[in-house]
Amino acid sequence: MNWSASFLLIFCVLIVSVHSSSIDNINNDEYDPHGPLVLCSFLPLEFLECQAPIDHKGNKTARDEAGHGCVKFGNYKYENVEKAKVQCEVLEGIECFGPRSFNKDGFPCVKYTGQYFVTTLMYSILLGFLGMDRFCLGQTGTAVGKLLTLGGMGIWWIVDVILLVTNTLQPEDSSNWNTYA
Ligand SMILES: *[C@@H]1O[C@H](CO)[C@@H](O)[C@H](O)[C@H]1NC(C)=O
Repeated sequence: MNWSASFLLIFCVLIVSVHSSSIDNINNDEYDPHGPLVLCSFLPLEFLECQAPIDHKGNKTARDEAGHGCVKFGNYKYENVEKAKVQCEVLEGIECFGPRSFNKDGFPCVKYTGQYFVTTLMYSILLGFLGMDRFCLGQTGTAVGKLLTLGGMGIWWIVDVILLVTNTLQPEDSSNWNTYA
C-alpha cells in the first residue's frame, strides 16, 4: 500500500466516525443546532398539520388554560384580527427533533361558514321584506321580526341593504365573508 492510499483510508475512517457520532447525537436530549435534525417547532407549515383555531367564545380564562385558540373571531379590518396559537402536529414520516405536537403562534382568528356577500345582498334586496337576509346570516330573532312586519313596512328592508353595503350587518357567528373562487 502506498502513502496516498493509506492517507485516503485514514481520511475515510475519520469521515465515517464523525458521521456516526453525529447520528449518536440524535438520541441525546440536548438539541444540537449543528446536528442533522431541525427542531420540530421550526418546521415550515408544509410539514405540519395544524388544527383550525378553537373558539373560546370570549372566555379569556379558557383560552389561557388551553394555551391556544381564539377569544374572538373576525374583524372588519384584517390588521385588527386577533392572532392566535393553534395545535400543530408534524406529518408522519418527517424526522425532526423534539416534541412532534406543539402550539404554533400567529394564526388569524377568522373562519368561513359559507356566507357570501353578494348572495346575501341579493337576498336582502329581493327578499328583504321576508327577512331572508337575516335568516341567512343566522340572526333568527331579528329575522322573524322583519318577516312579521314585512321588513318594517319597507323601511327596515332598505336599512338592511344599506347596513350590508356598509359592512355593518355581518354574519352572526362573526365568520368572514367567503370569496368566490
Ligand atoms: C371560562 O372558562 C373557564 C375554564 O374553562 C370556566 O371555568 C369558566 O366558567 C368560563 N367562564 C365563562 C364566563 O364561561
